[in-house]
Amino acid sequence: ADVTDASPIKAKPALPDAQKVTEVTHWTDRLFSFRVTRPASLRFRSGEFVMIGLMGDPHPETGKQKPLLRAYSIASPSWDEELEFYSIKVQDGPLTSKLQHIQPGDEIILRPKPVGTLVHDALLPGKRLWFFATGTGFAPFASLLREPQTYHDYDEVIITHTCRGADELKYGAALIDSIRNDEMLAELIGEGFADKIRYYPTTTREESPKMGRITDLLRKGEVFEDLGIDPIAPEHDRAMICGNLAFNLELKDLLEEFGLKEGANSDPQTYVVEKAFLD
Ligand code: A2P
Repeated sequence: ADVTDASPIKAKPALPDAQKVTEVTHWTDRLFSFRVTRPASLRFRSGEFVMIGLMGDPHPETGKQKPLLRAYSIASPSWDEELEFYSIKVQDGPLTSKLQHIQPGDEIILRPKPVGTLVHDALLPGKRLWFFATGTGFAPFASLLREPQTYHDYDEVIITHTCRGADELKYGAALIDSIRNDEMLAELIGEGFADKIRYYPTTTREESPKMGRITDLLRKGEVFEDLGIDPIAPEHDRAMICGNLAFNLELKDLLEEFGLKEGANSDPQTYVVEKAFLD
C-alpha cells in the first residue's frame, strides 16, 4: 500500500447533521431503543420517519468515509425535545452491528427530512383508530400513542403488537405503562385520555397470555370478542399498519375485506401502511 494512505495529518472528518446520543436502553439481546438531541429546526408529524446512521468504515484505498444511513421511524412524539428510535440489532447488519454499541455522548447522523404515510393527515375522520404492529414496527405507534391529536380525533385507540417471543413485547408494554402513569401527558392531552387505549399484544412462537398472529385472530373474530367490540367497519374504523412485508400485505387484504381503503397524504382514506425498516 501507498504510505500516503496512513498519513497522520488527515483530520477526522466532522459528522454532517450530527446529533448527540442522550440515552440507550437494551430491551433484549436483539432489540434496543435510544434517544438523541433534536435539531432545533426539525419539525415532523408523529408517525413519520427520517434517515439516521453512522459514518461507514474508511475505504481501504482512498480512506474516504461515507455515511451509512437507514430509514428509522421516529418513536417519540412531535412535541418531545429529544428524538427516540427503536431498533433491531443484526449481528452482520451493515448499520445495526455498529449502532447497537452507541453510548450516551456518542454522535449519530440524522438527516432532518421527515416523511411517511403513518400520519393523521392520511386518514379520514373516524371513531376507532387501530395500530397494527409486528416487531420494531411498533416504533411509529410509540410516537402516535403520545400524540395529543390521536386522542382528540378518536374515541378509542387499539394497538396490537405481534412478536415471536414474549420479551420482544417489553418496549411496547413499558411504553404503554409509562403513558398510563404520565401526569404531564395527562395534563397535555387531557385527564383520562389513556382510558381510550386498548393494548392487544400477541406472540407466535412463545407462550404468552394471547397467542397467534393478529391476522388469524382478526379473521376468526377473536380480537373483537376479546375486546368486546364490533368488527371493523369503514363507517367508524381507521387503521395504520407497520410490520414485516408479508404481514403488511396480508393485513392490507384483510382490511380491504372489511371494507377499508388505502390512503395517502395526498388522498386520505381509511387505512395506511408502511413497512418496518430492517437493517
Ligand atoms: P410467525 O412467528 O408466525 O412468523 P418477524 O420477526 O419474522 O418479522 O415476525 C414478527 C411477527 O410477525 C411474528 O410473530 C410473525 O409470526 C408475524 N408474522 C409474520 N408474517 C406474518 C403474516 N403474513 N401475517 C401475520 N403475522 C405475521
